[in-house]
Amino acid sequence: MLQVQSTHYRPFLKWAGGKSKLIEQYIPYFPQSFTNYYEPFLGGGAVFFYFCGAKPDANKFISDINPELINTYSCIKNNVEPLITLLKTHQLQHNRDYYYQIRSSASAIARSHWEGSEIERAARFIYLNKTCFNGLYRENSKGQFNVPMGKYKNPTICNADLLHSVSVALQCATVSLKPYDEINPKNEQDFVYFDPPYYPLSSTSNFTTYSRYVFKEAEQIKLRNTFVKLANWGVKVILSNSDCAFIRELYADFNIYEILASRAINSQAEKRGKITELLITSY
Ligand SMILES: C[S@@+](CC[C@H](N)C(=O)[O-])C[C@H]1O[C@@H](n2cnc3c(N)ncnc32)[C@H](O)[C@@H]1O
Repeated sequence: MLQVQSTHYRPFLKWAGGKSKLIEQYIPYFPQSFTNYYEPFLGGGAVFFYFCGAKPDANKFISDINPELINTYSCIKNNVEPLITLLKTHQLQHNRDYYYQIRSSASAIARSHWEGSEIERAARFIYLNKTCFNGLYRENSKGQFNVPMGKYKNPTICNADLLHSVSVALQCATVSLKPYDEINPKNEQDFVYFDPPYYPLSSTSNFTTYSRYVFKEAEQIKLRNTFVKLANWGVKVILSNSDCAFIRELYADFNIYEILASRAINSQAEKRGKITELLITSY
């Protein structure tokens, strides 16, 4: 079993589907040895931060398809001081009007990313993440961030110590903007953790849209095909998804484990409770 990490790194974002609370249950299923770690559905990166502590020597390749998210990781890695300075100015000005003013500039209309410099975009991204409803990331069909303001009394917008420690953790990582099927692990030295947007348990749960790129049934099948291809090459692959017949069938040839999860991301409080999710391994 892998050791509990000596240096504790943790996510700096609140992220739908974040895995911080599930890591303890995942640890027994992680492989004993690997040289290269890939996390191509990065989001808040809870598993990546875990390995920064538990496996400091592994090369880490982290990526996601969301340009604002990846820009933010890159800025923390390469330019954390000016980012902290800008974030402090957001912190000072935060109120309802300010939130909606900043939100209106969080728009990717007519281009692939928000307006402004890389540092301005990253500071805006963290500011909105810390002050919006539940830290959700949602865009309308025109690419405008459209999450309403959250009801936090005194949100911590700039946690400089945490951002400094994240910057240290990121020095050993290659950060890229790309879809999951563009990573290139090759053999048994490589370990991949796939955490895609979950297949919805019911037609009313629509949390499959984390960015302007949706992840429907056909994508789940395509991802399974990638999983199979990598497994055949000897790559150690592990994947999280919802516990439903569709996913169980897709991965019937692999090891399927149940993980106990509490779903905080349900707007109806009475529906929040313990449910199971799946963890699937190729080894
Ligand atoms: C469930 S979240 C990952 C949560 C993360 N494990 C954590 O602990 O916070 C899924 C992520 O996949 C990304 N994503 C969606 N479609 C993608 C694709 N085709 N390729 C790469 N990333 C994608 C989303 O932007 C989102 O950040």
